[in-house]
Amino acid sequence: MLRQTLFRLSQQPRLRDFATHNGLARGMAERFVAGETLEKAIAVVRDVNAGAMSATLDHLGENVTSKQEAMEATNAACSMLAAVTSAGIDCNASLKLTQLGLDLGDEIARDNLQRILDQGAESNTFIRIDMESSGYVDRTFDIFYRLFETYRNVGVVIQAYLYRSARDLERLIESRARVRLVKGAYLEPASEAYQQKADVDANFVKLTETLLADADYPAIATHDPAMIAGAKRFAARHQIPASSYEFQMLYGIRRDLQASLVAEGYNMRIYIPYGSHWYPYLMRRMAERPANVMFVLRNIASEVTARGT
Ligand code: FDA
Repeated sequence: MLRQTLFRLSQQPRLRDFATHNGLARGMAERFVAGETLEKAIAVVRDVNAGAMSATLDHLGENVTSKQEAMEATNAACSMLAAVTSAGIDCNASLKLTQLGLDLGDEIARDNLQRILDQGAESNTFIRIDMESSGYVDRTFDIFYRLFETYRNVGVVIQAYLYRSARDLERLIESRARVRLVKGAYLEPASEAYQQKADVDANFVKLTETLLADADYPAIATHDPAMIAGAKRFAARHQIPASSYEFQMLYGIRRDLQASLVAEGYNMRIYIPYGSHWYPYLMRRMAERPANVMFVLRNIASEVTARGT
């Protein structure tokens, strides 16, 4: 119930505008977001790299409603790629097609992505297309496959909560595409997605095994210790070397587990969001773990007490 409410709130423009300009809400976002500027994001990537982990930067933004915004997001992604190259950091990029104009038409989003892939190809930087809610999945794959004919520095995401994912994964593996596996972060209807955590987890395990056995350098993206242990066991049983896949986690979540996997010799990539459009991202992190709401409320309470107001 709280989860559904948080999802609905994540789509409220008035609450977004309020939160984005509210000091306390911005403070809350700091746990999950590297900062509002590219400079801060690059500094966080350096820290992450110093801990023997690679990174993927996400310039936050989604569901833009004008060509101008889509172009600005594309320019920002290109500036990010240039900064990554000149900083010499170990970092690739993640982006969302609705940030590049998918709601305005496939062609706009595809053209903008192509510009980013061109720049990424020059510096040999890999670009991951995040997967958004189920209404976008077909169009995201269409755009991906079209550009994958020309570009090899691009990959996609498979969400274990969708019934369709095993089928989608089969085609991706046949195409030798690079895949990140996640559980799925959006509120989806029972017609499209498993509703019970146990079912999502069971599908995640199945898809993990398929990826480890057959895919090219897959990314297993989860903070769930059971999913991670299962992946490690399967890889050990089938003599799949740790160098042939990576784990991924979100910035600010389970740093302890990130560090322990690195210490055990596993590849770990941290997804680092930055920018001023953090509101929907933050709300999805709350919805995943409603205990975060309490964390945030406690922070607000302590700041208010400290200020004596
Ligand atoms: P689960 O939700 O079962 O959580 C397992 C444990 O992890 C929890 O018990 C808790 O300890 C910890 N945890 C999880 N979420 C937390 C949070 N928000 N705060 C604190 N602790 C938390 N989704 C999507 O739909 N499209 C995408 O493109 C991506 N991309 C992506 C990239 C990367 C690198 C990651 C790690 C995740 C995504 N996701 C995503 C999000 C994903 O779908 C999922 O919502 C989250 O990873 C949470 O699910 P877990 O697999 O961690 O398991």
